[in-house]
Amino acid sequence: MTVRSSTGSYEIVFDTPDSALREIPQGAYVITDENVWAAVEPWRDRIERANCLVLPPGEQSKSIETYERCVRWLAEHRASRRSPVVALGGGVIGDLAGFAAATYMRGVPLLQIPTTLLAQVDSSVGGKVGIDLPDGKNLVGAFYPPTKVLVASGFLATLPRRELINGAAEVWKYGFIMDNALVEALEAEPIESADVEPIIRRCIELKARVVEEDEHETTGLRAILNFGHTVGHAIEKVQGYVGLKHGEAIAIGMVAEAWLSRRLGLCEESVAERVAGGLAKQGLPTAKPERVTIDALVEAMRRDKKADREGLAFSLLTGPGACKLVQNVPERDVIEVLSRCWA
Ligand SMILES: NC(=O)c1ccc[n+]([C@@H]2O[C@H](COP(=O)([O-])OP(=O)(O)OC[C@H]3O[C@@H](n4cnc5c(N)ncnc54)[C@H](O)[C@@H]3O)[C@@H](O)[C@H]2O)c1
Ligand SMILES: [Zn+2]
Repeated sequence: MTVRSSTGSYEIVFDTPDSALREIPQGAYVITDENVWAAVEPWRDRIERANCLVLPPGEQSKSIETYERCVRWLAEHRASRRSPVVALGGGVIGDLAGFAAATYMRGVPLLQIPTTLLAQVDSSVGGKVGIDLPDGKNLVGAFYPPTKVLVASGFLATLPRRELINGAAEVWKYGFIMDNALVEALEAEPIESADVEPIIRRCIELKARVVEEDEHETTGLRAILNFGHTVGHAIEKVQGYVGLKHGEAIAIGMVAEAWLSRRLGLCEESVAERVAGGLAKQGLPTAKPERVTIDALVEAMRRDKKADREGLAFSLLTGPGACKLVQNVPERDVIEVLSRCWA
């Protein structure tokens, strides 16, 4: 599959873990984390031809300090402008190593090898890379498309179940906003037992279609991917990014935003019911954590970058597998829906 971007096209290749890792060029610079390093043990010799930097796992690694560690490691090893950086891991490694690749010597080739479901269906495609600041998530970053993405669903065999379900939230999201047949497939067979590669392929096709049209988030089209994210991000923020995982927070957000879609008359009640039912069956949370108040959520949404001056903006459902971006949603509707759907 080819994805067009303003700086050229890049290929998404579906592969086995073994062949994906064989593609790492000799002398490349692989950035990964400790869990992934353990998971790729059976194929370690394919990677050891390259230079490897193994970092602590977790969101804390998407920091200025770890970013500095990455670019200084590249400099110390005399990586040149042509040396490829390989992001081998989940979204944390993809964003961090991607940002290092985007900025080291003003940009070196970037090969993405995503190893979580979330990274395979979402973060490795679309060119957003970046790191967090103590002041907020993803505050420093760039649009930097990879030169290639190697997707091997075989990596998911070692992924902890909670991480798989976390990624599944984004899969359901693509279905709810763009592809009702995908929702039907997920309803018929849980992702844990399904043949996951065609599902991943479908999600990437859907994301690629959107980012090709609105790569730099200027027309508003890319913002449709934020279904569930206005409320979801607010939950993550209020919780201080501990507790719920991203997919879990956006699952709660999707249920709330589906009911908001209904309240604004954009879809039938059955559409919102299907969102709540599907996510619950998937084992994702659908109600807010008790200690998070609606006031705190609304305050966080107001400050979020998706809120414009007039009011809140949401990607809302207009039917099964369909959505649109809605600006200036009155706060009172949001408050009313949140109070009702979590009552
Ligand atoms: N750039 C984008 O467009 C974009 C989109 C969505 C999310 N993100 C970012 O992605 C990050 C979340 O990504 P994530 O959910 O993949 O988290 P993650 O990278 O932290 O990975 C989750 C956990 O799984 C482990 N792991 C990864 N692959 C494994 C494997 N194959 N076997 C066993 N363990 C494995 C990791 O070490 C980690 O502990 C966030 O920082 C988020 O901001 C970016
Ligand atoms: Zn997301």
